[in-house]
Amino acid sequence: MTPVSDQRQQTERQLQADGIQAQVDELLRRMTPAEKVGQVTQYFYFRLPAGAATEPALGMDPDAQPLAVKEALGRGAVGSLLFVTDPAEINRLQRLALAGNRLGIPVLFGFDVIHGLRTILPVPIAMAASWDVETIEQGQAVAAREARAVGIHWAFAPMVDIARDPRWGRIVEGAGEDPFLGAAVAVAQVRGFQGTDYGQEDRIIAGPKHFAGYGAALGGRDYDEVNLSDTELWNTIFPPFKAAVEAGAGNVMTAYMDLNGVPASASRWLFTEVLRQEWGFGGFVVSDANAVRNLVTHGFAADPTGAAARAMAAGVDLEMAIQDPAYAQLPEALQAGAVGQDVLDASVRRILEAKLRLGLFDNPYVDEDRARQVLTDPRHREVARVAAERSAVLLRNEGDLLPLDPDELTSVAVIGPLADSPRDTLGPWVFDFDLDETVTVLEGIRRKVGDRVRVESAPGIPVVQRVFASMFDMFGGNRPEDPEGFDAEAELGRAVDLAGAADVAVVVAGEWQNMIGEAASRSSLELPGRQLELLQVVVGTGTPTVLLVMNGRPLDLRWAAENVPAILDIWYPGTQGGAAVANLLFGDVSPSGKLPFSWPRTVGQVPFVYSHTRSHEPQNQGRRYWDEPSTPLFPFGHGLSYGRFTYSDLTVDRPSITPEGTITVSVRVTNASDREAAEVVQLYLHQRHGSASRPVRELKGFQRVTLSPQASQQVRFTIGPEHRRYWSTTERDWVLDTSISDIWVGGSSTAELTTTFEVVRT
Ligand code: NOJ
Repeated sequence: MTPVSDQRQQTERQLQADGIQAQVDELLRRMTPAEKVGQVTQYFYFRLPAGAATEPALGMDPDAQPLAVKEALGRGAVGSLLFVTDPAEINRLQRLALAGNRLGIPVLFGFDVIHGLRTILPVPIAMAASWDVETIEQGQAVAAREARAVGIHWAFAPMVDIARDPRWGRIVEGAGEDPFLGAAVAVAQVRGFQGTDYGQEDRIIAGPKHFAGYGAALGGRDYDEVNLSDTELWNTIFPPFKAAVEAGAGNVMTAYMDLNGVPASASRWLFTEVLRQEWGFGGFVVSDANAVRNLVTHGFAADPTGAAARAMAAGVDLEMAIQDPAYAQLPEALQAGAVGQDVLDASVRRILEAKLRLGLFDNPYVDEDRARQVLTDPRHREVARVAAERSAVLLRNEGDLLPLDPDELTSVAVIGPLADSPRDTLGPWVFDFDLDETVTVLEGIRRKVGDRVRVESAPGIPVVQRVFASMFDMFGGNRPEDPEGFDAEAELGRAVDLAGAADVAVVVAGEWQNMIGEAASRSSLELPGRQLELLQVVVGTGTPTVLLVMNGRPLDLRWAAENVPAILDIWYPGTQGGAAVANLLFGDVSPSGKLPFSWPRTVGQVPFVYSHTRSHEPQNQGRRYWDEPSTPLFPFGHGLSYGRFTYSDLTVDRPSITPEGTITVSVRVTNASDREAAEVVQLYLHQRHGSASRPVRELKGFQRVTLSPQASQQVRFTIGPEHRRYWSTTERDWVLDTSISDIWVGGSSTAELTTTFEVVRT
């Protein structure tokens, strides 16, 4: 990969060659201070659905807010808008912007394009579970194409926050616990959004977020403070961000919480020293929503003027404002000398560069007819289906209950309140969905088996409500308004009768989509409501039962892991979810997903990772609690297949290398079954001694291979200094130790096939 300093120079050379620098220089020369402040301001443009309740948590007046934005557009004082997805509305607002701006500077439209715009892909944690970087890239390319078609230029994604505490609801938006997997997934997403250059057709700017540490909130409570050591920041939290920056991400978003006692959104260390100076980031930084004004709320800045000065001085170019931007006070801050004119100019420059690179000055509007076509492109639905197939994780399959053979079945009972819920099938963080085309699990199974098999369904239990409402509920969905009309005992009885009379029962259980995501942290990991009871009575009928888990975090499945023969984690699988699930259940395709996190037995174990250090009494690692094993219920990297994979012939091409040296590891993988299947081959590394204690295992390579029945393939990995270098507390710097290292290769983090090599100084 090109060193970052070279990348910055390359970008600058490119901008020069394209004449972009000269245009920015000219604009900056002509802009008034008020126009500059306008460019560094981003407003929500928010139209709530008719009849939606005003949500106090958003801190805005939904009626006044569009008027305020239009007024600012008229003054040429808006750099960017967010949350508009209707192409006609985007064109209207852009017209207002251009009419109001005497220099003809268009508005940049951003949006939370997290896992699709109209075609909804599986949620990000599910995409990560595919460990399939091509599928992930393709998925975000589809999202980018749809977004760009409606006039969105920039996605507030990928979220690359490492999440090791599943109580935190935003675990669903990321790639899980591991920095190596997280970095690979981050790069694939940036490439998907941006291609090789976000100025190209069908591409948009990617904005990795939230820099940095947001996933380590105390107690898993969203927005609560984070305290992370340098070791954790450099070795665990930063790698996916650095990888996203190296892949060319055009934007980075700040984080809401305090990091080690200072609001992350005002950290000069993060945004200027690490991001720009050390990594050579050349794009623009946006605050999270309201995070600049929030510096006052945090008890950090004295007033909005101080907040604006401190955020901008830290390196936050653009303020995402909900209402009343703090950056409106920048002229005052400039006058008081709290922030320099050069700093403001540099921020304006970065935003103008992005607009010019996007080609927005030449082409500010979108073609509304084309937008409609792009949004309904059937190829996009195919990408979503394949992604859902590849992201499902087969957690358990006793007696090979799966796949089901439709020729041997006469009836299937599909049970559970999530089985036929289009809105929940899509998952959180989507707003522009089409519920009518969403394929639920029930619908997918019905379509698959046609008239040959009787498919009956019952929810069994009512929809479960959150104790504290979700701010996202105002965007609508299909949860019944009045679950009280539900005759709980009769419905439970009906579900049991259906299950008892069927050849096989499929229970869909998990969390409703509003129970996960932002502001959706949880104090427990149990299945909400009476779902466990429902599962128990269904299994109690004696009918072979398959559990499909619809989730974005690990849930307490201790009972199921002992009593339900087949468990398939389908996550929130998206628009084509039910079609994908049916293909998996009936064996058209074999599951190949692998867990991107360690699945704890119980909430008491979290935060929980496979890559802990050995510490004292490593032989008792599984007995750290007296009341419960301290091992995972399912380990990181786990995922079964309908194929049967065996590993052999693990070799290294040399017994020792120098610290800067590279070693090649080979392994033979065989599919000893009569089905074609894909397997994610994983390599883990452990350094036995050095300047710091290193994790018992760390993922350092993976490859997805598809093998025909009885076929085998040699898989090779290269382990270089970049895989062994780490930030050491002893040295307070990056080190490459001499040591002996162990390697394991296999189908999960508990792989047993092992070898060693030595790192020596010659
Ligand atoms: C707040 C969230 O933290 C962030 O991830 C999101 O992009 C913005 N709101 C805009 O919706």
